[in-house]
Amino acid sequence: MADTARPLAVVTGASSGIGLELAKVAAGEGYDLVIAADEPDIEGAAEKLRLKGATVDAITVDLSDVEGAEKFCKFIADKGKPVDILLANAGRGLGKGFLDQDLNEALHVVDTSITGTIALIHKIGNEMRARDEGRILITGSIAGFIPGTYQAVYNGTKAFLNSFSFALREELEDTGVTVSCLMPGATDTRFFECAQMWHGPDSTP
Ligand SMILES: NC(=O)c1ccc[n+]([C@@H]2O[C@H](COP(=O)([O-])OP(=O)(O)OC[C@H]3O[C@@H](n4cnc5c(N)ncnc54)[C@H](OP(=O)(O)O)[C@@H]3O)[C@@H](O)[C@H]2O)c1
Repeated sequence: MADTARPLAVVTGASSGIGLELAKVAAGEGYDLVIAADEPDIEGAAEKLRLKGATVDAITVDLSDVEGAEKFCKFIADKGKPVDILLANAGRGLGKGFLDQDLNEALHVVDTSITGTIALIHKIGNEMRARDEGRILITGSIAGFIPGTYQAVYNGTKAFLNSFSFALREELEDTGVTVSCLMPGATDTRFFECAQMWHGPDSTP
């Protein structure tokens, strides 16, 4: 039987970096967690988060398409608790000039940031609006305000997420659902290595 006393936070991309830190904050604030990432090391993150006293359920799922988002939503629904906060954070970058990128890798960046994120928010956002409560935090980036030479596709996806966040926030302003956009500057995570991006003072993902 689920512990209904503790609210539930859902964090995507929680295996490392910013998502793991967001999940730690939520656990410290008394939330139970459902977390997801693309690789099995999400289980290691779950172990760390349980040390903070939270009940943590983890799933390895590719959130770059609607099917992945639906599988994740089913996993969340099986916990039997409403989602109080959704931290839609999963994302990846890709370096090199656009014409030199592998097209499938570039499309995966788009699909992870955009397709998977809006599919997840569409489902959970509707549930929140029906309950007239909930909070959504979308990880955009200050990169969404900057044309990203040698990271053109990535910056474009962050421009989408920044814009989408502002718009959805307005659409829900008369409800009990809030939408915020986290816009980190350059943050030292695995991101740059995974994206094969140069990491320097003028490179902001
Ligand atoms: N680092 C920065 O300077 C910076 C600045 C602004 C915004 N951001 C944004 O912050 C977010 C987190 O990035 P980070 O810096 O913390 O990098 P990170 O440590 O590489 O974390 C990325 C997370 O997203 C997950 N992920 C990636 N693709 C996924 C997919 N298809 N399905 C499910 N999970 C997926 C990764 O899981 P796996 O490893 O299992 O794939 C990982 O948990 C991203 O949206 C990024 O764009 C980062």
